[in-house]
Amino acid sequence: MNHTSGVPTSTVPEPGAVPGPARLDVHLTEADADRDLRADALHGLTATPKELPPKWFYDARGSELFELITALPEYYPTRTERALLEESVDAIAKASGADTIVELGSGSSAKTRLLLDAFARAGTLRRYVPQDVSEAALEGAIAALGTEYPDVELRGVVGDFTRDLDRLPRGGRRMIAFLGGTIGNLVPAARREFLQHVHTVLEPGEQLLLGTGLVIDEQVMVAAYDDAQGVTAEFNRNVLTVLNRELGADFDPAAFAHVALWDAENEWIEMRLRAERAMTVRVAELDLTVEFAAGEELSTEISAKFRPAGVRQMLAEVGFELSEFWSDPDSRFGLSLATAL
Ligand code: AVJ
Repeated sequence: MNHTSGVPTSTVPEPGAVPGPARLDVHLTEADADRDLRADALHGLTATPKELPPKWFYDARGSELFELITALPEYYPTRTERALLEESVDAIAKASGADTIVELGSGSSAKTRLLLDAFARAGTLRRYVPQDVSEAALEGAIAALGTEYPDVELRGVVGDFTRDLDRLPRGGRRMIAFLGGTIGNLVPAARREFLQHVHTVLEPGEQLLLGTGLVIDEQVMVAAYDDAQGVTAEFNRNVLTVLNRELGADFDPAAFAHVALWDAENEWIEMRLRAERAMTVRVAELDLTVEFAAGEELSTEISAKFRPAGVRQMLAEVGFELSEFWSDPDSRFGLSLATAL
């Protein structure tokens, strides 16, 4: 398995095995990821309609393409959230008072320093816990942050945010940050299960900082997922390249067209790959043959957009009270500070 290329195989370190205050706990190995990919591919390629979960976009090339997407003129979410965070981060730190920031899916996050600086200014910051599926990304982040924030205890957790939340360190007064609008990539049942899980691991009074894309003009939303340069199309097709490499599949990515549409009923953007001709695809490592009819679509991602009232309700359903809600002047993105009851 090579979806985080260059990452050494790891075991859970003994407490104290890593010198100094920085530590990395590994709860997700390449073997785990390989098993998950096989299960997801087998399930999704034999389902009707066919589907693949968006988490498999992000090999080294996919992560690079996503970084390119965030700089596209059409892709407003990242820069909007960042500007909103810049505007509101001191208010967030003040309203929160947390001494521990846990960041889910931290990746190579450029938002981390905004949070750390504001919570340091507020005088409460003691500990930062980045969590990500990529051990390489976390190692890099921890090394850099260790020199920049010598007084902050760093504790990285390699894991899957939908599964490994109970492995997060306890103690202190924690705020779990889940930014980028990634919660929108979960279908409603998974979204609710995830929030429920977050609520379960938090003590009453601890918090969740949640970033959500908001429902705006349909054309603006669709263009963000169907850019003129075709970077998102390449990102979408990259999932087929991942299956070719990791599972010995023989997809012809060029034979699939990128589709991005707004589902008005569910209020989500859906990305699909449409087979341009009838095809028989072999997935050697699953001993699976998959037939595509001409025009058949494979669903690869949903990206749900929310309304402020909907965010409040989804949080309330699992036991969070919405303490504060910030949004940009065009109401394109929302940041919610929710407190566990
Ligand atoms: C991972 C939530 C930031 O859904 O907008 C970007 C991923 N997909 N373009 C999103 C994505 C297509 C993105 N997030």
